Amino acid sequence: MPDPLKDKEIVVGVCGGIAAYKAADFVRVLVKSGANARVIMTRAAQAFVGPVTFEALSGHCVWTHMFKGPHNGAFRHIQWAEEADATVIIPATANVLGKMAHGIADDPLTTFTLAVRAPVLVCPSMNVRMYENPVVRDNIGRLRQAGIHVVDPEVGSLACGDEGVGRLPRVETIAERLRCLVSPQDLAGENVLVTAGPTREPMDPVRFISNPSSGKMGYALARCARRRGAKVLLISGPTVLADPDGVTVIRVRTAQEMFDAVMAHADQKTVIVKAAAVSDWRPARVFQHKLKKAEMEPPLCLEKTADILQALGERKKDQILVGFAAETQDLQKNARAKLVAKNLDLIVANPVGQNDSGFGSDMNQVELFYTDGRTEAIPLMDKGALADVLLDRVLEIKNALQAS
Ligand SMILES: Cc1cc2nc3c(=O)[nH]c(=O)nc-3n(C[C@H](O)[C@H](O)[C@H](O)COP(=O)(O)O)c2cc1C
Repeated sequence: MPDPLKDKEIVVGVCGGIAAYKAADFVRVLVKSGANARVIMTRAAQAFVGPVTFEALSGHCVWTHMFKGPHNGAFRHIQWAEEADATVIIPATANVLGKMAHGIADDPLTTFTLAVRAPVLVCPSMNVRMYENPVVRDNIGRLRQAGIHVVDPEVGSLACGDEGVGRLPRVETIAERLRCLVSPQDLAGENVLVTAGPTREPMDPVRFISNPSSGKMGYALARCARRRGAKVLLISGPTVLADPDGVTVIRVRTAQEMFDAVMAHADQKTVIVKAAAVSDWRPARVFQHKLKKAEMEPPLCLEKTADILQALGERKKDQILVGFAAETQDLQKNARAKLVAKNLDLIVANPVGQNDSGFGSDMNQVELFYTDGRTEAIPLMDKGALADVLLDRVLEIKNALQAS
């Protein structure tokens, strides 16, 4: 997926808080994501980190003084405000939050934030007693009401030695919030359920049947849907992937656990994408102790697991239901049969067993099958880019259904 921050103009305001050094890492993340980052520092911020650090990371002069310094015109606060796609204030001190909440514009950062119309994201970070002060709480409330976006600080041990709320979240978490702000919100109002990863069907405490699904496709779908404004629940089998920011994640192990979790949440969802590679079979008997070699008598007896897609298709009402079909042979025939049998709106068929696509890979090449008989071949692409394409198709199907 092209990073939503690519080619975006992001203005970063750095205030005089102990977390100011983390703003340098944040600028590095922005630049790595392809954004053009320009930095404004308060006077106090420069007591914590030097402007040279930000100049080196952003490739631009840092704006530090209202009335002096190199710039192309006197109305820099207006020009930068017009050019910005978004602004992030990191860390946002109690002082700057208070000034912003009351329209005070006595330095470059607060003057600029009054002039900017693009989204502003503030990241309050301070001592717990400062953060819990009713005046600070009130100022943050006012800013929210004025349409300013707030990344809540986290609970933990603070630089001053206190424990409590006030820590700046990870810069990647803040960057992800920013990606949501600059992405089109065309899935706003959608309540999306995505399943991902493999399942593990135990035979005894140390052995199980599974498959090499990495979960990357489902996680990419969950992340993209979230960025595009959806509320997202991800039900995941065992993977090494981190929970996507802003997504509710339920971790399960077996096909039965996935079935139970999906059924408990399915009815409230407007879109369900079943990207998990659920085991079709499980050992008929699960031993409580580790089987000794001599105890293992072939053949291994298997029984079918519950069919999640089938159950979803049967109870489907006003939902878009998307399934995946990983096939090694007769892809078209099997995918079409599954589309009909499971009452799906779209099936994403991918040939597995190819080196650079499918299970475990960052890339995927798929063919889409629609209920009206159409097929669409999607070229090999990054799973993130494919997630965006699939969500585009979900929206098209939804719009067509609403129009009919
Ligand atoms: C060592 C030290 C650490 C500080 N850390 C913070 C902080 O994390 N958050 C905060 O709101 N203020 C913090 N302050 C207080 C601010 O630096 C002070 O309020 C300053 O006026 C803020 O200026 P600015 O908002 O223009 O950047 C700290 C002060 C010192 C001396």
